[in-house]
Amino acid sequence: MTFDDQELLQKHPVLERILIGSSDIQRRVKELGNEISRDYGKRVPVLVSILKGSYIFLADLTRCLSIHHEVDFMAVSSYEGGTQSTGVVKIEKDLKTNITDRDVIVVEDIIDTGLTINHLVELLETRAPRSIRVCALLDKKPARTKDVDIAYVGFEIPNEFVIGYGLDYDEKYRHLPFIGIMKG
Ligand code: IMP
Repeated sequence: MTFDDQELLQKHPVLERILIGSSDIQRRVKELGNEISRDYGKRVPVLVSILKGSYIFLADLTRCLSIHHEVDFMAVSSYEGGTQSTGVVKIEKDLKTNITDRDVIVVEDIIDTGLTINHLVELLETRAPRSIRVCALLDKKPARTKDVDIAYVGFEIPNEFVIGYGLDYDEKYRHLPFIGIMKG
């Protein structure tokens, strides 16, 4: 069963509005997949998905790649239920893949302050990958406190708390097919 964006918006009164509709997300993810496929050609990158927020993005992105690639998962915690960054990043689950000499693409849902991704890239670089790039669905640039080089960006968004397409508020709303802004 599929739900219409507008129908779902009515069902969830916590939502103020839809920021990026499901068809726009699908179109952009396809473009990112094409771009990555072109850039990597015959190389076989390892897509490192940062749980939990990027699981839906990864699932769609991987099906838009026309090149061989592998996937692996890492889990880190930086938010404890609310909407504020604690600045504390803890590795909850590490990779199974040995990334030494591999081309790594870190797949993130959203770059907010940049603290999480900075910490992660620094950590992964100690394992001597051949290359490492970041692919983020959302870039909340106005919230940035740490400079981050993001090779592939889905959408730049304003400094609002968003949910849906993998992003949660207190573990809820990840299943929504669009990116929505919560009521303040
Ligand atoms: P950063 O360390 O501040 O860049 O935060 C990155 C992480 O915070 C993301 O991977 C998300 O899990 C979470 N996050 C940041 N902004 C939002 C948001 O607007 N909605 C839901 N989660 C968010």
